[in-house]
Amino acid sequence: EEGAAPYLPSRGGLPTLRRAAADCRGCPLYKDATQTVFGSGTRSARLMLIGEQPGDQEDVRGLPFVGPAGKLLRKALGEAGISEKDAYLTNAVKHFKFERQGSGRRRIHKTPDLHELKACRPWLAAELKAVEPELVVALGATAGKALLGSSFRVGEQRGLLLPAPDWDDLGHAAATSGAAPGHGLVCTVHPSAVLRADDRESAYEGLLSDLGVAAEALA
Ligand code: URA
Ligand code: SF4
Repeated sequence: EEGAAPYLPSRGGLPTLRRAAADCRGCPLYKDATQTVFGSGTRSARLMLIGEQPGDQEDVRGLPFVGPAGKLLRKALGEAGISEKDAYLTNAVKHFKFERQGSGRRRIHKTPDLHELKACRPWLAAELKAVEPELVVALGATAGKALLGSSFRVGEQRGLLLPAPDWDDLGHAAATSGAAPGHGLVCTVHPSAVLRADDRESAYEGLLSDLGVAAEALA
């Protein structure tokens, strides 16, 4: 497998991309997962929210953010005053990576590695180019790394309105010259990290505060 690039259609919009992504074998993750989980939303969305990868429920249903993390995300978006209708939801990696616990049926999420992130990135770049969102919100370190490269650290970049990276050349911090003009990026924690946090309440407040920066940028 050499990444998703050979599977990308040379033309067409989101529906064409979604159909093509269903057959992607650009990295080994397609083998154990149920299906490709492509982004959801319209090409007129002003905001693109990027998570890590589909979770267990997303893998089964074929839609991003339909499980517990999605529920928390929706609540936070509502409280931050961001309409979900305006948002395109997707993930940095389109197949669920997991490991089975013992002989049981429980599937435990595994963080995608940099090789998988890079392999899947052409889909994300194609979504960005099709939607051209005014604002991108990266949820967690994986999304941040997909966009800005492997040196990305959530703690250093969260809650800042940054220039969006060049959509044709993801994986580098936004060069002032290459950045798409008028396009912004806000990074924050992943909603799953909020669910796992010892102090859930303050983690949630942090997410809300970062989403507030996004809401303001969209206002
Ligand atoms: N976590 C993600 O990053 N994406 C989803 O779609 C669900 C959970
Ligand atoms: Fe293709 Fe991405 Fe799935 Fe890998 S994770 S097979 S690159 S869609």
